[in-house]
Amino acid sequence: MQFLKLNSPLLLAPMSGVTNVAFRALCRKLGASLCYTEFISADALIRYKDQLADHIYDVVPNERPVVTQIFGEDEQKLFEAAQAVVGTCDVIDLNIGCPAPKVMACGGGSALLNDPAKVRRILTRLNTLPVPITCKIRLGVNWDNITAFEIAKIAEDTGCVAIAVHARTASMGYSGNADWSYIKKIKELVNIPVIGNGDITCAADVKRMIDETGCDYVMIGRAAMRDPFIFSRAKHYLKTGKNVDPVSWPEKLALFREYLVLLETYGLDHVGHIRHMFMQFTKGYAGGKVLRGKSLEYKTKEDLLDFIKKL
Ligand SMILES: Cc1cc2nc3c(=O)[nH]c(=O)nc-3n(C[C@H](O)[C@H](O)[C@H](O)COP(=O)(O)O)c2cc1C
Repeated sequence: MQFLKLNSPLLLAPMSGVTNVAFRALCRKLGASLCYTEFISADALIRYKDQLADHIYDVVPNERPVVTQIFGEDEQKLFEAAQAVVGTCDVIDLNIGCPAPKVMACGGGSALLNDPAKVRRILTRLNTLPVPITCKIRLGVNWDNITAFEIAKIAEDTGCVAIAVHARTASMGYSGNADWSYIKKIKELVNIPVIGNGDITCAADVKRMIDETGCDYVMIGRAAMRDPFIFSRAKHYLKTGKNVDPVSWPEKLALFREYLVLLETYGLDHVGHIRHMFMQFTKGYAGGKVLRGKSLEYKTKEDLLDFIKKL
């Protein structure tokens, strides 16, 4: 099997609490050629496989292409979970990078980086399914245990169609800087497409990551969460080598209102999530701090929406 043919190298990273079906739709419209779901536990997918509904699994039939990311540590459960979503998505991705203590404590996410033999068993099983399989890794659990090269080779050997590399160790969390030189080394090591990830903050960074590492695709996380326009800006930059004018606040606000409509459409318009994303969208805007403070005063969905409507 091969990786998908995509119309741009720009991918939306999986982000728990962020990359729901509504957010993916927004990013796809702005130029993300492939979007990842939030990570989903293999246990939950198995338990609810007869009702793969909204809040457990929110992929909808008309959103393509889409990657479903699963996490867990049990080979059999991961296989069954993946089996349950075959046919609903274009790629299934195994999370080998989550640094959250509660995920790692169970042996999932980044903890798998320390168990290459188990990764081999899991990926071998997953690759018997009739769907392309990928994995998303960090460099290692810490700098004393860099296993990314071994894991990348295993991914290739077992038939994975691509590998995404977040160029930090698990122990770094989100601190320090992603070390893109590792993306370059992994690109030189394997013959499957490499997806570079970590610290893209603007359109020019996308080009810089491709130039510096030779990666095939660039995955964008936090910068997209704060400003999905990064996809249209990056697309333009890659085509012309030039930046478009900065997005104005009214344009950003209009996009946020569009997001609100999508949230309502998919029944995801909960006050906590609306506020969380409002906080993200207002970052970088000069008057954002005041708006973020004010948004905390509105406790109900209706009041918060009314406040946003009047901006
Ligand atoms: C809020 C949040 C949630 C995340 N959830 C996931 C996840 O579910 N699965 C995953 O593989 N990575 C997850 N990540 C990591 C991102 O996919 C990405 O690897 C990381 O943010 C680095 O990319 P960036 O510098 O472009 O943000 C998450 C990151 C953030 C900020």
